[in-house]
Amino acid sequence: MTRLHTELCDLLEIPTPIIQGGMGPYKTEDLAIAATNAGALGMISSIGMAATLLPEAAPLDAKRIFGDDPPAIILQKSIETVAKRTQSTGGIFGVNVPVSAEFLPASELFVKQVIEARNADSNIEKRLRVLITSAGNPTPWGDVKKHGLIWMHVVPSVYHAKKAERAGCDVIIASGHEGGAHVSWEPVHSMVLVPAVVRAVQTPVVAAGGFCDGQTLAAALCLGAIGIQMGTRFIATKESDFEPIWKQAILDREERQTLVGRGLFGPMRFLRNRRAEMLVEQTLEDVPNFYLGSPVESNETILDLERAGFLDLLDQKMDKALMFAGEVTGRIQDLPTVSELITSVISEAESVLNELSTKFLKS
Ligand SMILES: Cc1cc2nc3c(=O)[nH]c(=O)nc-3n(C[C@H](O)[C@H](O)[C@H](O)COP(=O)(O)O)c2cc1C
Repeated sequence: MTRLHTELCDLLEIPTPIIQGGMGPYKTEDLAIAATNAGALGMISSIGMAATLLPEAAPLDAKRIFGDDPPAIILQKSIETVAKRTQSTGGIFGVNVPVSAEFLPASELFVKQVIEARNADSNIEKRLRVLITSAGNPTPWGDVKKHGLIWMHVVPSVYHAKKAERAGCDVIIASGHEGGAHVSWEPVHSMVLVPAVVRAVQTPVVAAGGFCDGQTLAAALCLGAIGIQMGTRFIATKESDFEPIWKQAILDREERQTLVGRGLFGPMRFLRNRRAEMLVEQTLEDVPNFYLGSPVESNETILDLERAGFLDLLDQKMDKALMFAGEVTGRIQDLPTVSELITSVISEAESVLNELSTKFLKS
């Protein structure tokens, strides 16, 4: 059997074309370590670390997740921990920094910290190779490449992909509307989005939104992508940093059981439960134009975290907790280790790709 290998493996010098998506509100430190050691690109998530800097986020009990350190120190410690605990495999990892307008002061702080961490330690410089920006304007961030980082940016449309290409990013992550957490105003799903973006730009494209196994990895490659970024699938793994009720909810829900409502910056996809239904009711009450697209005022898009129930999440109340996840929740029924997951995704993708030509192409 041939071995699966793509341009993403060459670019990142990793054995698999799989990215573990950045996922707040946690640091995803344990997940990043497990993914990196298993041959994927592990990602540290910074969005939750920013909570203490944002007045809107004051009700989020960030200290319970992150302790008393200031955000830049939290990130620095996380980088050091991931570097240390992946030392033996020498894997490659990155940091995700959302760059939406509401988070810009935090985004600048985190990008600076990533650069400083690399400059200060040659081991970190060698292995913290990737910055993934998301949820905002790519244009101001091109300089990160001058510091030796591979820069990827997440986009929800062809329009935004062209903008990311003009900004000079190395890889575009095309993220379909079925994905978990932040989604675009306009519902364009991966099946349409990924090949459209691949055709529209010269920059290599990674597919995100709805990918969870070897079949979907093979599909992404058929659509012209060089790899996949998975979020929801990685939550339901033994090592993931997420609360047990969040993992269990992903195992329990079927594909129809997600909802899009007002999120931290624009729309977000949540697991459907009573709390998410209430959030949709609040969304319609507070921002009647929400589902009609971007003409709403940006401050109307910001979720009231206290009303939203993040504290209840940490208190383990299944009906009250707000939990982000993608539609792919309906395809996830097991809780493997990250290594088992990655091994099975790759071997299934290899079988699917091998079978396709023999099964469907007749000479
Ligand atoms: C719980 C959760 C939190 C997320 N948080 C972030 C984040 O902080 N930054 C980001 O760029 N993407 C975030 N995402 C999106 C993922 O990185 C990934 O692109 C997405 O989950 C892919 O779709 P999938 O859920 O169908 O795999 C989040 C997704 C989930 C499910």
